[in-house]
Amino acid sequence: MYQWVKAFHIIAVIAWMAGMLYLPRLFVYHCAAEKGSVQSETFKVMERRLLRGIINPAMVATWLLGLWLAWHGPDSRYGWFASGWFGAKLCLVLALSAFHGFLARWRKDFAADNNRHSQNFYRIINEIPTLLLIAIVLLAVVKPF
Ligand code: HEM
Repeated sequence: MYQWVKAFHIIAVIAWMAGMLYLPRLFVYHCAAEKGSVQSETFKVMERRLLRGIINPAMVATWLLGLWLAWHGPDSRYGWFASGWFGAKLCLVLALSAFHGFLARWRKDFAADNNRHSQNFYRIINEIPTLLLIAIVLLAVVKPF
């Protein structure tokens, strides 16, 4: 059972991360589209569907399956919560979830034709989920402490 839940946890992680890496790219292109143009309206639909159809449900699935795994870890009382690497991973995953919240806010701004950031801003913040992803996977697989 544990291995099955872990497999679906990883599948959910892949879907969540794919969306988190792609949405800021859409914002970069959306910045270049004129407000009210057909292109801009198409980006709005793509962004809404990506967030609601993939990123949000994938995040919920990742959390539910991850917490289930955490409770069923090796420590009979505290599961993985007793391990150092898991505490560190939890902090980084909370940061990733906060980033998710910011993406949702910026999507709403674009939907209202009220974007307040530059193309460069979205290019730079695109690196944040990449760095968090690398650190989280290293912690989960290597378990260095
Ligand atoms: C959302 C909250 C999350 C929780 C509570 C959580 C919790 C866990 C737990 C308890 C395990 C089992 C570790 C083991 O059996 O060795 C696990 C495995 C794993 N998690 Fe997460 N996780 C979360 C999010 C993530 C994210 C965002 C990523 C990647 C960016 C990730 C990547 C992985 C990987 C790659 C494994 C497999 C490790 C292995 O078997 O070697 N997890 N997770």
